[in-house]
Amino acid sequence: MRSARFTLDPAFTIGEVNPRIFGSFVEHLGRCVYTGVHEPDHPSADEAGLRTDVLDLVRELGVTTIRYPGGNFVSGYKWEDSVGPAEDRPRRLDLAWRSTETNQFGLSEYIAFLRKIGPQAEPMMALNLGTRGVAEALELQEYANHPSGTALSGLRVSHGDKDPFGIRLWCLGNEMDGPWQTGHKTAQEYGRLAAETARAMRQIDPEVELVACGSSNQSMPTFAEWEATVLAETYDLVDYVSLHAYYWPTDGDLDSFLASAVDMESFIDNVVATCDHVGARLKSKKKINLSFDEWNVWYLPRWEEHARTADPRDWPEAPRLLEDNYSVTDAVVFGSLLIALLRHADRVTVACLAQLVNVIAPIMTEPGGPAWRQTTFFPFAQASRYGRGQVLDVRVDSPTYETEKYGETDLLHATAVRGEDGSVTVFAVNRSRTESLPLEIALNGLELTSVVEHSALADADPDARNTLDEPERVTPHPVEGATLRDGALHAVLEPLSWNVIRLR
Ligand code: AHR
Repeated sequence: MRSARFTLDPAFTIGEVNPRIFGSFVEHLGRCVYTGVHEPDHPSADEAGLRTDVLDLVRELGVTTIRYPGGNFVSGYKWEDSVGPAEDRPRRLDLAWRSTETNQFGLSEYIAFLRKIGPQAEPMMALNLGTRGVAEALELQEYANHPSGTALSGLRVSHGDKDPFGIRLWCLGNEMDGPWQTGHKTAQEYGRLAAETARAMRQIDPEVELVACGSSNQSMPTFAEWEATVLAETYDLVDYVSLHAYYWPTDGDLDSFLASAVDMESFIDNVVATCDHVGARLKSKKKINLSFDEWNVWYLPRWEEHARTADPRDWPEAPRLLEDNYSVTDAVVFGSLLIALLRHADRVTVACLAQLVNVIAPIMTEPGGPAWRQTTFFPFAQASRYGRGQVLDVRVDSPTYETEKYGETDLLHATAVRGEDGSVTVFAVNRSRTESLPLEIALNGLELTSVVEHSALADADPDARNTLDEPERVTPHPVEGATLRDGALHAVLEPLSWNVIRLR
């Protein structure tokens, strides 16, 4: 049996994990908001119409920052529609998802939702820079954040929100490089608009943290040139550039799909290089960090097919859209994407799993019925729980396999995080669909004496999934046999598995 190895040493670190990398995303899309987060008639609903069964799962998932209200939706969003008495709010056409938006869930409900999750939940508000601009961004900022004594802060108070929302993190638009985006722009046009919006927002509050739109994915024809042009306009005014990436098995090519993180890591490296190139050109000491504010496994062709064939006269309310049901294979790829983010914790300091409920989500709900965990729920919950501290520099020596998209690829994908108490958690994926992978980890200068747990997500049926009828078909299971001896950890990773090995 071929085996893999690497060395951990506390002297060699990547950087501190920012809790914001365990963020997620709630968009007005399909049933993410309506009958996902918000369902006033549901038996578990609280006085604000929020599903408490979903709130419990969101807390268990361990999400931090939650991006809102889109996504593509934001490029048609009028924030004024979403505030004030719910019965007075207008119904609008949502062009992005060909739906009717009722605005029964809005800004105030979003903030209430975050507050109910707990102090770890932080707002990340996206601005409409598609059909709107500087003035509307400033008005929203004043409504949301100014304490009182002005027309818009007074309006918020009159709507029952005495305390300001304290939104610190703002996205300057969404996927403005994409021709599908309402109000799509060239890099030059967007860069100027983002710069002017940022400059004005900083006049209200110099402490805001601003995310400029990067590319919608690494394959965009404008990739890298887009970032360079936008950052040339905004470098001193923004803190982050965004990255988005979704993966699915093209033409059933599972071997390449399992190696999706190769693309994600190269995307991150290329964006870091582009940011630093612009910084060098500007002779700036400032570093731009990365906000990977949409990432996931998404069977995108299914949506494209739906968009092609849907009746153009139909504008449904909260339709079932993008309700991907994730398999064990999907969860292993998903875990590998989490590993990729952790491996770049020095520069990726915000990340949002797209999305949170029902729409390509770790949590599913049935209207009037239960809520349950998809297979992808587990890697995220474990990473958020145990992936806090310093990321150690992991350089694997692994057997490889051949993939059509990425060539020769390591079977092992791994990272390790050292907590403040000295404990270490290893996150590892075995990409082999057929073979177990023995793993040896040399532990240099780490005083680790016991294996607390080796947990794996794997199944004899890699296509197994959780469903309404069988919501607990797939859960992580304990693995026997991981041992510490002669200064090394020895474990075996099952074929096609996501693994969490905790050492104390
Ligand atoms: O998350 C689904 C969609 O994917 C978002 O609305 C958009 O930003 C991206 O293309």
